[in-house]
Amino acid sequence: MTRILVVEDSPTQAMELRYLLESSGFEVEVACDGASGLERCMQLGVDAVLSDVVMPGMDGYELCKSLKGNPVTAVLPVMLLTSLSDPMDIIRGLECGADNFLTKPYDGAYLIGRVRRLLENCALRADRKVSMGVDVLLMGKQFTINSEKEQVLDLLLSTFEEVLRSRQREFEAKLSEQTLRESQRFLQAVLDALARQIAIIDSRGNIQMVNASFRQFALENGFEATRQLEGSNYFDTWLSLTLAREHGPKVRDGLDAVRSGKQSNFFVEYSTRVKSSTRFFSLSVARFPDGNQYLFAIEHEDITARKQLERQFHHAQKMDAIGQLAGGVAHDFNNLLTVIRSYGDLLLQDFAPGGQQCADIEQILRATDSASALTKQLLAFGRQQMVKMEVLDLNVVIDELDKMLRRLIGEDIEYGTVLAHDVSRVEADAGQIQQILMNLVINARDAMPHGGKLTVETKNVLLDEANSSLHDGVAPGRYASIEVTDTGMGMTAEVQARVFEPFFTTKEVGKGTGLGLATVYGIVQQCHGQIWVYSEPDRGTTFKIYLPCVDQPLAQPRAPAASERVIGEETVLLVEDNVAVRSVLGRVLKDAGYVVLDACDAVQASAICETYAKQIHLLLTDVVMPGVSGPELALELTQKRPEMKVLFMSGYSGTAITRHGVLREGLFFLQKPFSPGSITRAVRAALASESSRASSKSVLD
Ligand SMILES: Nc1ncnc2c1ncn2[C@@H]1O[C@H](COP(=O)(O)OP(=O)(O)OP(=O)(O)O)[C@@H](O)[C@H]1O
Ligand SMILES: [Mg+2]
Repeated sequence: MTRILVVEDSPTQAMELRYLLESSGFEVEVACDGASGLERCMQLGVDAVLSDVVMPGMDGYELCKSLKGNPVTAVLPVMLLTSLSDPMDIIRGLECGADNFLTKPYDGAYLIGRVRRLLENCALRADRKVSMGVDVLLMGKQFTINSEKEQVLDLLLSTFEEVLRSRQREFEAKLSEQTLRESQRFLQAVLDALARQIAIIDSRGNIQMVNASFRQFALENGFEATRQLEGSNYFDTWLSLTLAREHGPKVRDGLDAVRSGKQSNFFVEYSTRVKSSTRFFSLSVARFPDGNQYLFAIEHEDITARKQLERQFHHAQKMDAIGQLAGGVAHDFNNLLTVIRSYGDLLLQDFAPGGQQCADIEQILRATDSASALTKQLLAFGRQQMVKMEVLDLNVVIDELDKMLRRLIGEDIEYGTVLAHDVSRVEADAGQIQQILMNLVINARDAMPHGGKLTVETKNVLLDEANSSLHDGVAPGRYASIEVTDTGMGMTAEVQARVFEPFFTTKEVGKGTGLGLATVYGIVQQCHGQIWVYSEPDRGTTFKIYLPCVDQPLAQPRAPAASERVIGEETVLLVEDNVAVRSVLGRVLKDAGYVVLDACDAVQASAICETYAKQIHLLLTDVVMPGVSGPELALELTQKRPEMKVLFMSGYSGTAITRHGVLREGLFFLQKPFSPGSITRAVRAALASESSRASSKSVLD
């Protein structure tokens, strides 16, 4: 068995070498320094020596020199274990005749391979003579190399191999560094592609990495461009930069809980002021392991748009709920008002004009008118009002209202209009536009208790793609605008944010219901328009309304309300579930000369239709009734009596005879509460028409 002497002063390394060599089938002797190594070689007779270079006492070079200098041991192959960090090491090794070198730390398999090769080479050259030394100059010094040619070659080859191996290691290190850099670049590119702001921090809060969006936001919010985000502390800089004061502690606690491992993640939504506007953000943090520590990914997202949508949605929901409530109340309330109004009117005819009784009754009628205006207001903002869309000239509507507005405003307010002579036509309900103007003008008056200036303007506005994005929610196109401007007390941002909310008022109890602007808002929405408010405390207020333009010609001027009584002789089938309304209607129609057949519901009405032998000229029916509705009844009865005309009446639009609250084309309709005059006029108009029967069919489309 081949015996190898290991000369090594470190017992651990000696043991390791012994184990390595023995497990490859060599017999191993160990010496702990050069001198005892030399002694062993002499006594034991070994096949090869593996020696450390740096040892106390006789070092590896000296040992090698002594072995090669002694003819008995000169043929013994010697391998030095060295760091080979200095060319001088190699020269010294060659000078002392070492056969091979191996650098530490060595690879086990490589070492065994080299030992085997060394033994083979030595066996091949065993019987040749030792040649004379070769002199070489290195760094100005002369060295005599005593190694044989094969030994030199072997050494050079092993050195070359070693250099290659170390290059390989360097290359691999470089490659893995490059791969790391590339994967970091890839990660950065992925993070930069995200719209959310992302920062990776360590457990002390120091920022390790941010994406482009985070960097951009930091700069927009006062983080100095010259400072490095990476390395700065997230808690000290970022939090204090972006978080409104009240959110700070909550967010800090949440982040601390994740950092300490009490929670695995944390999520919060917060608002902050960015460039004088409020924006909403969500912040979430999650921890993840990185080697033997934890890192934390923080993600911010701008959720302002979503928050605004949510707010609009809640507003719309609130409006819908109140609108439905208003519709329900208005239905019953309008029946009561119809009765009061109609009997009041009938009473008025019994007294001589100018007397005290007449004046008293007129007071009752005025109160009914105010109550009726209030229900109209409720219905309008709930978008339950019956509207009659027609093509309008806004200037005409404003002119018609001029006198009334001046009366409302009082003397110490200077009122003026600036009306664009060519203002485009819009499609709207004239009564509703008047309602808008009245509300805005009364608000302006209330905002100027010590006088001021109030202007109503009309303009044409063209919104193209570019500037329509400045007016959120408005499609590009042509609009006619109404602007109402006052020089009054103005509003704070908080009040402005709430003005369109139903029941929001800053006026003292009894002075305002807070329904005015909610009504205006409802009407503008129904007309597919938009409304904005611009105001500053003590600087006055402007409300701007944009209504889409239409090209159709103007509607025919509305017929002035006829004051004369309309007399008839036809037969009317009156269907109304409310007793009081039915009886007053019956009385008014009979007084006007009509034959009245009355029914409390659809069943009674059908029975009358079956049995009544003569012609029935008109069906006057309520829309909303228990059981069969007015439109269903109309359809049924007009099939039996095709010549019968139909007139509907109702206190609110519901959905039965309207499409989105707009009266269907060609239908005859009487809005409650009504006066005797309006009843007889509507009955006469329906009787005179050609189309009321046909259109009753379309009601149930
Ligand atoms: N031109 C304005 N100048 C200053 N503040 C205004 C103006 N218009 C409206 N406001 C504010 O908006 C609030 C809501 O107005 P809105 O018309 O809806 O209700 P109101 O006037 O208080 O009551 P109502 O109109 O039902 O009688 C007002 O209370 C007021 O604070
Ligand atoms: Mg108001």
